[in-house]
Amino acid sequence: MGGSDGRRPTANRLRRPQWLVVLLAGCLLLLAGCGGGGTEPVDLGDPATLGMRTFAQWCAPCHGVEGEGNINALEAPALNAAGDSHLLTDAEILDGIVKGGTQEGSNMQPLGEFLLPEQQMAALYFVHTLWSDEQRATHEAAGGHTPATPAP
Ligand code: HEC
Repeated sequence: MGGSDGRRPTANRLRRPQWLVVLLAGCLLLLAGCGGGGTEPVDLGDPATLGMRTFAQWCAPCHGVEGEGNINALEAPALNAAGDSHLLTDAEILDGIVKGGTQEGSNMQPLGEFLLPEQQMAALYFVHTLWSDEQRATHEAAGGHTPATPAP
């Protein structure tokens, strides 16, 4: 009878790994479900749409929906073809977005802590779309077009 006593633990040992596999698979599914929801809080979308949305939400309140400028007491300058922002380099504009303006004592709000790098770049390139063709050409000719346009 010692033989049958010996089989029970063996049978149990064979079953346990199967339960473990089922349990581990269940845990992984739960983790995958939670992880997927937790690591993707912002839908960045395509850069052009992201730029439009970022500008509308974060820049338009001061610079106007079309970048026309001078819409409130802060007198934020025009960013469209009526202004001179194309004379700034991309590095200067990006620095202004992140640190708050392009001048000493600027009233522009620093947005670095609110915007992801993707949003900062998208807003920068959206400003380009507000300029005239001539202004874009001037901007590029002056070597202001840095960093290079990201791959689509
Ligand atoms: C709280 C108001 C405010 C917000 C929000 C704001 N700006 Fe400004 N911005 C200003 C003011 C005021 C100036 C003028 C002072 C200066 O140049 O720093 C300015 C200047 C600029 C300039 C320089 C323009 C020039 O011709 O010299 C650029 C470019 C610019 N902003 C881009 C942006 C972008 C892009 C956003 C959104 C990501 C943004 N700003 C959000 C107020 C704002």
